[in-house]
Amino acid sequence: MTLLFDSISSKTSNSSGLHATTAATSLAAENPAQPFSRDFFYQAFDLSKSEETIADYFHHALQHPTVLYLFFQRYTHFNAYTSSVISRLASSIAMSRYLFTDPEVPVIEEADRGFNVAMKVMIAAADEGSNDGASHRALAQLLLKTIGDYAGLSVLERNQFAKIPDWLNEISMSVMDGYQGQPGNVAALIRALGFHSASELLGDIEYALVDKVFRHDNQGSEFDCYLRNSSAVEICGHRYHPWCYVLVHSRYEGSGVEASHFECVVEALNLVVQYRPEPVEQIVQWVLEGFESFMALEQDLFKQIHQECQAWLDAHCP
Ligand SMILES: [Fe+2]
Ligand SMILES: [Fe+2]
Repeated sequence: MTLLFDSISSKTSNSSGLHATTAATSLAAENPAQPFSRDFFYQAFDLSKSEETIADYFHHALQHPTVLYLFFQRYTHFNAYTSSVISRLASSIAMSRYLFTDPEVPVIEEADRGFNVAMKVMIAAADEGSNDGASHRALAQLLLKTIGDYAGLSVLERNQFAKIPDWLNEISMSVMDGYQGQPGNVAALIRALGFHSASELLGDIEYALVDKVFRHDNQGSEFDCYLRNSSAVEICGHRYHPWCYVLVHSRYEGSGVEASHFECVVEALNLVVQYRPEPVEQIVQWVLEGFESFMALEQDLFKQIHQECQAWLDAHCP
């Protein structure tokens, strides 16, 4: 298994932080029936490095209210894709007949377990659609509207930002492509589960960081005060504060749905190990490839948003 990890590392370590330590290898080898866990991904990837960079981008976005709007417009636009494509992954797995099977059950029809794996993904898909009333998209729109009001942006100005640049469309389409998997294609499905695990784990880390930077580190800032004075708004029969969009996902020194969605993916991955005949090393490799692909796309997303914010500042606040 060390060789497999080393070969992935040598191909990709410069792009997004896979550092394939022997610790991750040994952790997976220690428990071959259930090799996947939060610790496993933390051992395999240097997540703290990208966390520092992203925190710097968040601080940078606070320099101007319009830049803050631009930042969240791009971020929520991207997340509308990650949130909507989860149900496609669940469906791709559930549609794959006899691909995930219980080796203890000799009757093929009775051994089919695709739905057992898919239901772990469906939990996250269902949460995106409705948070006891409002979809995550509706919560994102409420936050964006609030930031637009804070920045004093006109309808025309807001609509200018809705002209999505090519780089963002390309990243979003790559996410859709990698996330949904292909029914009947085991490698594509397991890579997609790796993709999904990155989306949930990084989501947990990022939303907690958003809460930390915008509300904790900058407590008392103009934006923080504006948010504190903002009223809750009724959506689908429930009242939501604009910051709910962040808190429902994760929070500083706490957690939200992203942490539980990630635990569900970990359970799905360990079921895959149980229901597939390949050696665990092969499954681990597919998962790491998927995880790394998503991580690279998201790092690119933040880098591009940051550059766009800087370009706006250069043009308007020389
Ligand atoms: Fe969400
Ligand atoms: Fe999630």
